[in-house]
Parts: sequence; C-alpha cells; structure tokens
Amino acid sequence: MGELNRKPADLVVSGRLVTPTGVRPGAVLVSAGRIAAVTGLTAIDEVAPGVPHLDAGDAYVLPGLIDSHVHFRTPGLEHKEDWEHAGRAAVAGGFTTVIDMPNTRPPGLSPEAIAAKAALVAGSSLVDYRFHMGADPDRPELLADLDPAIATSAKVFMAGHQTAPTVVRDAERLEKIFAAAAVGGVRLVLHAERDTLFTMLDDWRGRLRDHHAYERSRPRSGGIAAVAEVIELVHRHGTQAHILHVSSAEEADLLAAASDAGLPVTYEVTGHHLSFTDQDTLRTGARTRLSPAIRSAADQDRLWAALRGGEVAALGSDHAPHTMAEKLLPVPDAPPGIPGVQELAVAVWTGMRRRWPDESSDVAIARLVDHLAAGPAELFRLPGKGRLEPGADADLTVFGPDDSWMLSAYDVQSKCGWSAYEGWTMAGRVRTTIRAGEVVWDANEQKAGSPTGRWLPAGPPGRGLTADSGRA
Ligand code: DOR
Ligand code: ZN
Repeated sequence: MGELNRKPADLVVSGRLVTPTGVRPGAVLVSAGRIAAVTGLTAIDEVAPGVPHLDAGDAYVLPGLIDSHVHFRTPGLEHKEDWEHAGRAAVAGGFTTVIDMPNTRPPGLSPEAIAAKAALVAGSSLVDYRFHMGADPDRPELLADLDPAIATSAKVFMAGHQTAPTVVRDAERLEKIFAAAAVGGVRLVLHAERDTLFTMLDDWRGRLRDHHAYERSRPRSGGIAAVAEVIELVHRHGTQAHILHVSSAEEADLLAAASDAGLPVTYEVTGHHLSFTDQDTLRTGARTRLSPAIRSAADQDRLWAALRGGEVAALGSDHAPHTMAEKLLPVPDAPPGIPGVQELAVAVWTGMRRRWPDESSDVAIARLVDHLAAGPAELFRLPGKGRLEPGADADLTVFGPDDSWMLSAYDVQSKCGWSAYEGWTMAGRVRTTIRAGEVVWDANEQKAGSPTGRWLPAGPPGRGLTADSGRA
C-alpha cells in the first residue's frame, strides 16, 4: 500500500503510561511492531482515527517486562518445564523478554551450545529471549572474545545444587574467569555462595532431617564469603559482576559499600526472597526451598529496604521449576528451586503495597518498571526494550494495580503445575501482555498468542550505570 494510504498505526493502547519521564495518561501508537509515537489522550482521534484501540482506562501501561533470571529447562530437563509452558507463564506474568540460564542438559557452556539452544526454541517462544552463557572453568578464554550476538553475560556457579553444571570452587580458576571476562567486556552473573562450607556442615551434622533446618544447613556465611571474594576480584580486574539472588542483610551491606565505592558490581533480588521467610518452610516444606536459602524476616526487611533505597539493580524470578514429585522426595533429597516468572511482578507489587500503603501507586509502579524493565534492559544490552518511547519494540503490559485476585493452582501455566504462591491474594493483576504489537496474553480469555518470539541481538556496551541507582 502506498505511503499516502498507510494507516497511521496498527494499534493504539491508552491508559496510565509508565514512561522514562514519569507516569501520565496517554496513548501508545503501534506500527509494524514498534512504538511509533507516545501521545496525549486527546490526540488519539486526530492522529489515529479508526485504528483498533485498547483502552486500559485507569490501568497502567508498562513497557513489556524483562526477567533476566529464568531456567526454562530446555534442553534436557523438560520433565520439569519446557519453553512452551514457561513462555505462557512469562506472558501471564507480564513478561515479554527473558534471559535464560545455562544449567541445562547439555549445559550452555560454549557459543555452539548457546546457538544450538537458540535453534531449539526458535518458532516456539511466546517471549523474546537472550541467554547467559555458562562460564566454563576449563575454558575461561571463551570469555575473552565472546561474540555479543551469542551472549553479553556469563553465569558462574560458585556453589552446586542438583542442576548446577560446572561449579567453580578453585580460587585460581575463578580468577582466570574474572580476568578473561574483563578482557571480553562480559558481565558475569554469579551464584555467589561457597558450598564447601555447606558440605562440611552436612558431614558434621548428618543429613537434613527436617525442611525447617534447610536454611541453617546453607547459612548466610557461605554467601557472605563468596560475595567478599567477588568484590575482591572485581576490584582487582575491573570485571562487571552482577550477584544473583542476594539473600542476606550482610551481603546487601557489602554490595552497597562496593557499589558506592564505584566498583562495577550490581545485584539482583528475587521475588521469592522478598515474599517468603525461613518460617514459611514450617508450612510449605520444600516448596519454598531455594538456593540460596530463604532467610529470616530481618533479612527480608533488609532486601525490601535495599529495593526502596535504589541499591538493587534488577529483580529476577529465578524461575526454577521442579516437579512436585521431586519436591516431595525425602527431606535431604528435595531439590532447591521454585517457579516464579508468572508470580514475580504481582508478588512484588503486592509486597510494596502492603509494606508501604502510604506510597503513591505511581511511585511504586515506576520502581517496579525500573527493576523489571529499564534496569535489566540496560544491564544486559537489550536494545529497544524496557522503555515506553518512540522507536522501542511495541512490548506493552497492561496492569490493573487494584485488580485484587487470588492465585490458585488453576492459574499456574508452568509445566510443573504448582506455585509457592498458591492461596496468595495479589493486589494487582496483569490484564494483557503485548509483544511486538501482538497480544500474547489475554487474562480474561486465559489465552496466549502466537509463538513468534525471537533471539534478540545485543545492543552496544552500556554507558555504565550510575552508582546512585544501585548500579555500578
Ligand atoms: O534453587 C535454585 N535452583 N537455585 C538456583 O540457582 C538454580 C535453581 C535450579 O536450576 O533448580
Ligand atoms: Zn537461578
């Protein structure tokens, strides 16, 4: 069709827009999968007459959310989760982009393995995707010249658990990984715990006898020791490091000091560590067993304070499903890991509204977008993602901030079929999720869209993130 007859837009989405310059009523004009314009409400009929219009009214319109910490279990662990089910869980949770972890079978320890995984999921993904490559202690040199198209980040397991591929326990090999990543400009994302201590505790105390003793068997000292080691290595090599699933107040204090000192170290907090405490294990058993362990209410308070104080660079779900049969194994054998991509945004929203009832919802939603869209997009070089602005991908999440609802097993989209949040009354709900201008989730219909998600290219190296926003 000639330019003269081209429709001004394919879709208009109006509501309370959460934009990089603030929250305000307005409309997003979508054309060919991109945001063509962000306008005021009055301009709609003028600029886009007769264009399909999704009017979200008073609901928020967010940039499509980004979960930079998922385990979608493809390939090799599909009995726990697969990309199709996990994609449904993600879009139902308001996510349009994920970054998947390498602890698959085989593990994603090389560019070839990452390319093979990308080929596996192509054509069956509701979400856009990138991958963290696994840092192979036998081949640290891969990080020194890693093609950004493959990955701009690499996962380092400093501790093991049932699905961890190659655990790096040797200080010298760990240092070689930091040195190579610094050369290659690769951001390391780390499971920062020292589990030699946990093994000793198990040897001394015998195998776990009850679920409630799990946290004590995987104490904060393992995480504190590892975080201190990482900070030292960042200081020595200048490597960009992002600590995953920080669980204790002491780690948060250490990382705040390092970030304030200008070191390129950032960290993540999971929805799980914000939503549960070790007391929940009395009731939930292994359903709230995670590595790192979920700790005390005081630790949880510290993590919430870190989120509110701008110390946290990104929230992540650590979506790590196991089957219920695996979770019901004898106490010492039940694997750590909890599904979470579907629950992350609504659970953190609920926590914010319950903890800070006097805070304006616009302030709260802007914080959520900062940590689940703009922040991850910047940390992991995702061009066109994380911000409602012209030229960005038309990834939009319509969120009803006061659509209170109870999460039940019937809502669970993950293949594992269970959620640690069953029975929770959530304060807000994802109504519609749009990726590239197409509806990929409609909550009313409980219907997913077409699996046309793509392997994203890498954007240019970040301009570095400012220390005052919890970023190096
Ligand atoms: O508890 C966990 N389980 N923590 C992780 O870091 C990985 C995850 C998994 O893959 O099961
Ligand atoms: Zn994880």
